[in-house]
Formats: sequence, structure tokens, C-alpha cells
Amino acid sequence: EKGGHASFMLKEIAEQPRAVADTLLGRIDAEGSLRLDEVRIPPHELREVDKVVIVACGTAFHSGMIAKYAIEHWTRIPCETELASEFRYRDPILDHRTLVIAISQSGETMDTLMALRHAREQGAKVLAICNTNGSTIPRESDAVLYTHAGPEVAVASTKAFLTQLVACYLVALYLGQLRGTKWGDEIRTVIRQLSEISGAVGRVLETMEPVRALARSLAGHGTVLFLGRHVGYPVALEGALKLKELAYMHAEGFAAGELKHGPIALIEEGLPVVVVVPPPRGRSVLHDKIVSNIQEIRARGARTVVIAEEGDEAVVPYADHLIRIPITPTLLQPLVSTVPLQVFACELATARGNDVDQPRNLAKSVTVE
Ligand code: F6R
Repeated sequence: EKGGHASFMLKEIAEQPRAVADTLLGRIDAEGSLRLDEVRIPPHELREVDKVVIVACGTAFHSGMIAKYAIEHWTRIPCETELASEFRYRDPILDHRTLVIAISQSGETMDTLMALRHAREQGAKVLAICNTNGSTIPRESDAVLYTHAGPEVAVASTKAFLTQLVACYLVALYLGQLRGTKWGDEIRTVIRQLSEISGAVGRVLETMEPVRALARSLAGHGTVLFLGRHVGYPVALEGALKLKELAYMHAEGFAAGELKHGPIALIEEGLPVVVVVPPPRGRSVLHDKIVSNIQEIRARGARTVVIAEEGDEAVVPYADHLIRIPITPTLLQPLVSTVPLQVFACELATARGNDVDQPRNLAKSVTVE
């Protein structure tokens, strides 16, 4: 049932190109526009939405953090992403023009369910992004967009995460299409880029052997730090979460711009720091800043593991280890930059003798608050 893989996690990592393609399937019409008829919230109501609030936990929360960048960029609707467990207890401001998006692989996470119930009580509309047909969260929502990743058995979320991202991009583009903030050509361009992404995810998977070797070489370390900016920041958080839950190591993700506000004090000789680098082409502001960050931490002894686009030569002098990812638009980069971090955590955990499918103390779905 593991299809020749040593673990469900490896199987699910390998399934990602297909899972990503399945999430797009049937949702794009012949003209290249989006068809999300399953979102039963009427278009006129969606056009009136003046605020989007995303609620989720854990890995699903990280996909929601990335969605915020896409939604605000493509729709110009203010969007906030909040941990479901915090949301309900701070008396959030919601009304019938608020669209709440609840993201959950299992559809049974209690915190997310309680958050969406609270949102509906306040009159907000709730759209679920979910992987499990007929589960509680979609049943209690106004509408649902299923991720079609197929069953995820390993406790650590991998293919569900990538497909949650695709679903979030679809929702963002659909709202943009309905509201006319993004239309015609631009939607078609992004849709085309999205449909090509599954091939890019496949290419990343073919080049993971050096990442595995690196992971094995770090099995004796106590701490790994992760840095990213913009959509690379949630990717850094996700890389750290994977390492915590699978390898039981101290791992932390930071927004690279925060380094000098504290975390740089942690840097010491030999400390592995993974840096997710944004695409360089024509958008060099963040790219240049990240390259300076890599220089800064390396000057203080960090062992730098740099995840950067093919052809990005600026990072080469400062990378102790360089992981190449295919060229992608900035907002879509998490679909390829997350994959090496999944492989890294899985291999490192295996090298430490851990059960990657059933990490200690964790359950696949958390049905208590
Ligand atoms: C991490 C992980 C958890 C879940 C979280 C939410 O690998 O699996 O952080 O992402 O418990 O679960 P769902 O998506 O089922 O609501």
C-alpha cells in the first residue's frame, strides 16, 4: 500500500505532482477562465466581500499565510490569516461581507471547526478548503473547494499542503475574476503557470539526492534555523515545523528581515541555517536583501543551506550548500520551495531512527481543542 516507498510520507511526497494537477482538474474552462461552480456562494455576494479572514492550524495555517499574499495581490481585498485557536477568543470583527476561509486537510480539526461556527454565528460566509469529502468542516460551511490530494496517511502533512496552496490560488484568482481586479490575460497567464507547476514539482523531486545526503550529515545537530521573506517566510515556518514534528529537533523559522531584531544572536559557528531565496528576475529588492542576510549569517559562522532558483548566481559565493529549484513566479514559488524542506525533514528524521509516519505525541487529526 506504500507503493514501493519506505514510508507513507515518502509516497505522499512523491504523489505531489499528480495531486497538484488533480486540484486544478476541471476547474479551468476552454477559454482559460476559472469555473468554480462548486463554490455555491452566489457571485453577487462574493463581489460584495470586503474582507477575507483565513483560519487554520499548523501546516494548513502556513498555506493560509501564503494565501494572504496572493489574495491581497490579485483581488485588493484586505485579508488576514489567523490561527483558528486564537481567532474565536478575541471577539473578531465579522459581518455578512466577510468571507472566512477555513483550511483543513482532515475537515475535523476542532479549533478550525469552532472558528468557523463562530464566524457563521456572526453572519460571515464560510468557504472550506478541505481534503476529506463529507467531513465536518465542509458540511458546516457555506461552500467547499476540495483539494483532491487523495488520502493523506502520514501524520505530517505534505501533499495536502501543496494542494491547499493551489486551492487558495484558485480562490484568489476566482475572486479577482469576479471583481474584475484581475481579468482576462492576467488570470490566463497565472492559470497557465499554475498548470505547468506540477511538472516543476516533479523536476524538484528528481534532484533530491544531495538534499538527502545533506540531511543525513546534519542528523547529529541540535538546532536548524530557517529564513525566508514574503511568501518564503511561511515556507520557512513550514520547513521548521516539519523538522520539529519528524526529527524532534529544535527548529525555528524567521522572517529574514527580523534577523537583526534578535534572532541573529543565535548564529554560532557551524549552525545550519536554511534560507529560502525569492526569484531574482526583475524583482531584486527582496532578493538583494536576502543575499545580504546570507552574507551576514555566514560571516558569523552559519553553515548556509540556500534554496534558490536555477540560474541565480548571486547566491553562489555564500552558499555552503545550494539547492536549486525551477524558475517560477514569486507568488507560486512555495509550491516548489517547500518540497526540498519536506524531503530534508523526512530524511533527517529517518537518519535519527524516527518513525516518520507516526511521530511521537502527534495525531493525524486533532479533534479536541
Ligand atoms: C503538520 C500537520 C498539522 C496539521 C494541523 C491541521 O504536518 O499535519 O500541523 O496541518 O493539525 O490539520 P488539518 O489540516 O487536518 O485541519
